[in-house]
Amino acid sequence: MKSIFKTIMFGAAAILAASCSYGTSETDKKVEELLSRMTLREKIGQMNQLSGGAELAEQASKGEVGSILNCVDPVAINQVQKAAVEQSRLGIPIIVSRDVIHGFRTMFPIPLGQAATFDPAVVEKGARVSAVEASAAGVRWTFSPMLDIARDPRWGRVAEGSGEDPYLDSQMGVAMVRGYQGSNLSDPTSIAACIKHFVGYGAAEGGRDYNSTMISERSLRNTYLPAFKEAADAGAATLMTSFNEIDGVPSTGNKWLLKDLLRDEWGWKGMVVTDWSSASEMIAHGFSRDTEHATEQAVNAGVDMDMMSYGFINHLEQLVKDGKVSESEIDRAVRNILKLKFDLGLFDNPYVDENASAAVDYAPEHLAAARQCAVESAILLQNKGHVLPLDKAKTILVTGPLADAPYEQMGTWSFDGQSEHTVTPLAALREEYNVIWEPGLEYSRDKDKSSFGKVRSAAAKADAVVVFVGEEAILSGEAHSLSNLNLQGAQSELIAEAAKAGKPTVVVVIAGRPLTIEQDLDECDALLYCFHPGTMGGPAIADIIKGKVSPSGKLPMTMLRDAGQAPFYYNHNNTGRPNDGTEVLLEDIPVGAGQTSLGCRSYYLDSGYGPLFPFGYGLSYTSFEYGVPVLEQSSLDKNGTIKVSVELSNTGKATATEVAQLYIQDCVGSVVRPVKELKRFERVELAPGESKTVRFELPVSELEFWNIDMEYVVESGDFRLWIAGDSASGTPVSFSVI
Ligand code: NOJ
Repeated sequence: MKSIFKTIMFGAAAILAASCSYGTSETDKKVEELLSRMTLREKIGQMNQLSGGAELAEQASKGEVGSILNCVDPVAINQVQKAAVEQSRLGIPIIVSRDVIHGFRTMFPIPLGQAATFDPAVVEKGARVSAVEASAAGVRWTFSPMLDIARDPRWGRVAEGSGEDPYLDSQMGVAMVRGYQGSNLSDPTSIAACIKHFVGYGAAEGGRDYNSTMISERSLRNTYLPAFKEAADAGAATLMTSFNEIDGVPSTGNKWLLKDLLRDEWGWKGMVVTDWSSASEMIAHGFSRDTEHATEQAVNAGVDMDMMSYGFINHLEQLVKDGKVSESEIDRAVRNILKLKFDLGLFDNPYVDENASAAVDYAPEHLAAARQCAVESAILLQNKGHVLPLDKAKTILVTGPLADAPYEQMGTWSFDGQSEHTVTPLAALREEYNVIWEPGLEYSRDKDKSSFGKVRSAAAKADAVVVFVGEEAILSGEAHSLSNLNLQGAQSELIAEAAKAGKPTVVVVIAGRPLTIEQDLDECDALLYCFHPGTMGGPAIADIIKGKVSPSGKLPMTMLRDAGQAPFYYNHNNTGRPNDGTEVLLEDIPVGAGQTSLGCRSYYLDSGYGPLFPFGYGLSYTSFEYGVPVLEQSSLDKNGTIKVSVELSNTGKATATEVAQLYIQDCVGSVVRPVKELKRFERVELAPGESKTVRFELPVSELEFWNIDMEYVVESGDFRLWIAGDSASGTPVSFSVI
């Protein structure tokens, strides 16, 4: 009862706020005035987004296109804009959009790599750089950040998001929104963010892109929606619907999602765009009869702008005449679109300076920011005998298909990054060492081992061997799902071959997803994992190999032993038969074993229970020790704030940064709760021998979740809390909420 009341009150307040807002601010008045002068056809034109450049000028002159995507030529952009502003009846400017996902010219690490930094400030800076470079070319709207929770590395789009954790995802999403949009959207260097894909797209069954999802409302609210809510509250200007359906309803036609939840419950006032033809794809889903029907469903569900279905421009007028879509739905959509255009200052400042890019593209401070981000994103997963850093080696063998692959290291969605500006690891290592270069393989899928002999003899001449393996850019990203996550081609054999010389062997993986590398770890001494690190990946990796900086990245996704373990994530609900160490593995099963002799636990006979490396894991060149967390109070009421501190010491020999992570567990709930949930993190730099008291504050209200009655509440009871360097370690302390 209480929850229904709360929802009604909240909903009513939001509706009131939304309805009152029109006509009150200066922008709203301008929107209303313009809207009152528009014909139905002109309104529908605003709702149409098309891909292309100068050839769209004619449609723009007729007011038949509200936004274009995929044009980054300022001359062509100005031509289309001139047609819209100077030739169309009402002179409404177009918005130019582009997938600026992890950089425009200066490419930053892919978003999954940015998440590995656990550093929202460095991520915000990256988004700001992207905005400055993209806006100089005339782009004022990016389709980023992607906030899809991704728990299955087979899904190629894990590259584009922040991984498996809702809190990390929220922090990174908000940082990106802030970076793109700056303090004011009307600043010519600001670009509108687009939070996507709303929602649940990352839960594609089997990790196969575009696939169906089955997510309960509770799980949607507890896991998949929080990052969207945070980023929406942070002012994200636009939102994109997702391709997938949830429980039979495609997002682009989901009225509950786009109206009841997004508008009425959350009170969000931005603009909603479909994904590329996701409206007309509702036909293939079997949800719409034809494009006209899909258009009716999408607009009535709450979509404002159609990306590339052509359905709105072709059918909406008739749908309004037939009474299937009301003109008030059209007005709602056009208000949101015009407001964005006013907010971006496009009416006052529609054109781009055609020479602006030269002054900002690859500016030294942009390259420095990209290098910093790439350094922080590198994750050290193994360092036997402290072979890294290679601070004493003089001659090193560099081998592997990713050592000198300028295009590949930029990763997915690097349309505008230029390979000739990329600094590869090979180039950067040549500045530090006497390098013997033997590629071994030409590209990541290459199976031709005919050069392995050269690699072997070169290794014998070197003080150390560094093998760069991983994935070409094309193997991750949209539509690039994989069912086998081992290194492709003959890369694992190359590692084994290079290691035969017995020299210290370092493997650097440059990839778009967490691959299954257990067998490769056995062949090398050290392994550094870099999600495609972008333009400055080479110098960043060289800095780490040489020991100029200690690695500090942490895994934003659980790393699996075997793809068959997917989906696997640290913040899962417990089963009634959690693993307890009694599990018997395949090779230990006695022949003729009895049916109940294997422990009856939740695990795989072959790959066991645990992951290869847990979420949050990452080594450094030093060692850190955590004390037991000290809680200021062990019993709190629901208005309280958990204040907890921990002593963190650098017990090794290098200055390094550790990401201290605070996890909690709600021990007993009215519904089963995750075994652990990340709630806070902080990067802490410590000199050798230095200790610091790391303090966290966590309002009890942040323990809220959607409970058995679908109320968003904190339930009284016992909790456990850890502060540790990853999601699988630490000593828990207990507290209770009364
Ligand atoms: C389809 C992708 O799913 C989406 O993320 C992207 O923004 C659009 N295409 C536009 O390119």
